[in-house]
Parts: sequence; C-alpha cells; structure tokens
Amino acid sequence: MYIICPEGTELNSLLQYYAHLLSLKKFTNALKNISSFYLSRLTGGYFVWGKPFSFFIEPTNLCNLRCTECPVGLKLLKRPQGLLDFDRYKKIIDDISGHAWQLLIYYQGESTIHPQLIPMIEYAYQHKIYTELSTNGVRLGNSKFCRELAESHLSKLIISLDGATEETYKIYRQDGLFHRVVAGTRNFVKIRNSLKKRYPRTVIQFLVMRHNEHEMAAIKKLGKELGVDAVVYKSPQIYDFENAEDILPQNPRFRRYEKENGRYRLKGTYSGYCRKLWFGSVITQDATVIPCCFDKDADYPLGYLNQTDFGTIWNAAAYHRFRRTVVGNRNRVPMCRNCSEGLKTFFK
Ligand SMILES: C[S@@+](CC[C@H](N)C(=O)[O-])C[C@H]1O[C@@H](n2cnc3c(N)ncnc32)[C@H](O)[C@@H]1O
Ligand code: SF4
Repeated sequence: MYIICPEGTELNSLLQYYAHLLSLKKFTNALKNISSFYLSRLTGGYFVWGKPFSFFIEPTNLCNLRCTECPVGLKLLKRPQGLLDFDRYKKIIDDISGHAWQLLIYYQGESTIHPQLIPMIEYAYQHKIYTELSTNGVRLGNSKFCRELAESHLSKLIISLDGATEETYKIYRQDGLFHRVVAGTRNFVKIRNSLKKRYPRTVIQFLVMRHNEHEMAAIKKLGKELGVDAVVYKSPQIYDFENAEDILPQNPRFRRYEKENGRYRLKGTYSGYCRKLWFGSVITQDATVIPCCFDKDADYPLGYLNQTDFGTIWNAAAYHRFRRTVVGNRNRVPMCRNCSEGLKTFFK
C-alpha cells in the first residue's frame, strides 16, 4: 500500500522524502507569515499576513495511561473526549494544505489509539505535510502496528520514556508498560533500519522530574542501545503548585519555574508577541480551532471546522481579538501565565 524507500542509499531515500515536501506555495505563505510576525514585533505594530504553517491536530484526546501531571491522565479535561472522524480529518487537510507544512499529529491524549492514524499520516504526506507524532509508545508493542508505522511516511517519532527502569518509569507513567515500550522502540528502529530509511527520525523524550533525574545518564545509555537518533530532556509543566517541590527536579537547568516571594513563576520575561499565534494553530478532536497548545481545555475556541473553513476563522474578529489581547498584555490571559513560549524547554 505504501511506497517505501525505493532502491538506492539511505541518504537518497531521505532526500527523496524531503524533496516531496517542497512547495513554492507553502514557502511563499510561510515567508509572508513570518515576515508579518517580525515586522509586528520590531515596530510594536500589528500585521498578520498569510496563514499558519504549523498545526497540531488531535486524532483523539482519549488515553490508555494516567500520567500524574497530565490533564488527560488526571481526568481533569472538561471538554468532550472522542475520536476525530477520518472524513472530517481529510476535509481539514484539504482545507489547510495550501499553507500547512508541519503537522504535529497529537495534542492531548494518545494518538496511536486512533484506528486510522496511519492513513492520516499518509494523507498528510500526500499533501506535502511533514508529520510528527508523540506517543507513550505502548502500542509499539503491537508488532503489526509497529511495522506499519515504521513503513509509513511519518517524519518524526517522539517516544515518551521518563525512566530508565520500570520502577522509576511507573511513578509518572501510571498504567504504562516499561518493558513493552522498550521492546517496541527496539523493534521499531530495527524495522526502520532494515527498510534502509532514515525517517521517521526517532527520539526518546525524557521529562526531567524529581523522582527520575538520577536516571538521566542511564536513559542516554538506553537510547544508544536501542538505536534511537537522539534522547532529549524536557522540563515538566506542572499544575499542582502546592506540591511542586516534590515534582520539579533539583537541577535548576531543567526547571521552567523559579520561586518569587514564595510563589512559582515562569523563568524569564516574555513578550506579548507570541510566535505561536502567528505561525501555528491547533485543531481538537471535535474540529474546534484553538489558539495554541497551552489551551488544553479549549477555553478559547476561535471557530469550528464543522461549520466553516479555516481561512474564515483565521481572518475573523475573534482570532484578531485574542491575538491583540495577548500582544497588549500576555498576563491577562490565564493560560499564557503558565506557557513556556520563548523559553527553552528541551535540552539534548
Ligand atoms: C499530552 S502528551 C500527548 C502525547 C502522548 N500521549 C505522550 O504522552 O507522548 C504531549 C506531550 O507532552 C508531554 N508531557 C506529558 N506530561 C507533561 C508535563 N507535565 N509537562 C510537559 N510535557 C508533558 C508528553 O511526553 C508528550 O510529548
Ligand atoms: S500518555 Fe500522554 S496523554 Fe496519556 S496521560 Fe500520559 S502524557 Fe497524558
């Protein structure tokens, strides 16, 4: 069904893969969009040209795990849970494909639960869209799924593995199956390599927390042994500020918060000119457009793709109003106060 790595070297297959994603139309749009952001920022004005080139689309907000600082895992999500209908997804891709160049095919929840995830990735690729998937990796333990994903045109796979041992891993990834994720990762890399493919680039992502920071070196070693392309550390976002000290790592480098007058606040100072509001947009499993990936509960809906097209929503007053509010004073929007945009949260 899928065209996998025609004859030739691995490098050829990678070049072919990226050559397929080239698009003058998308490039011109991205250039316009990026220029309008920097012009706004430099002049203190407000210009929005073109359309966003980076999207999150949420195949589902259901999940098989119960991670202890995740709204889905904690069952704190207030919005409805379900699966994005595949036909609706195709309509959305048809609608945004003139400008969408990067698709993060996950948001809240675990995308591998969606039965049509792989056709979704292929549909995006057919529309010259680079795709990234973040997964808890449990489903990689299903060898059929693991093979299909390795054969697919996914661009990047992020496997969340927040422990180098089962005991540590399970503290955060409750209901997770450490050995299954490790075996699935090993199998995935083996299949991908046997196909002589260099994509999906495969990365282990380790959230650095108090209970696992002693395993930071061990996860690097494990990643090497599994053959992944990189291991990256991510600083955790927290919601439970009362018990933050028990969650946040001791190493300040991996904390995105600092304490001021006994209260936690994000490190650094932030401009109201937030790139996410120009470069990207987020579409939830029920086709709601929200401004960015920090709006976990869709508290700031900007439009509904089952009622209208993306361009209309992007150009409507609600989107501009929201953006202008953030530009004017980012602290007025509660979710922006716990947002790390502009702060480095990933470390190699
Ligand atoms: C909500 S998860 C959804 C994707 C998938 N279920 C997973 O866990 O990888 C999206 C991303 O957030 C990361 N994540 C989970 N809890 C987090 C936290 N408290 N702070 C920062 N990132 C977190 C995950 O590792 C994943 O890369
Ligand atoms: S696996 Fe991902 S979506 Fe599921 S509870 Fe954990 S962080 Fe949240």
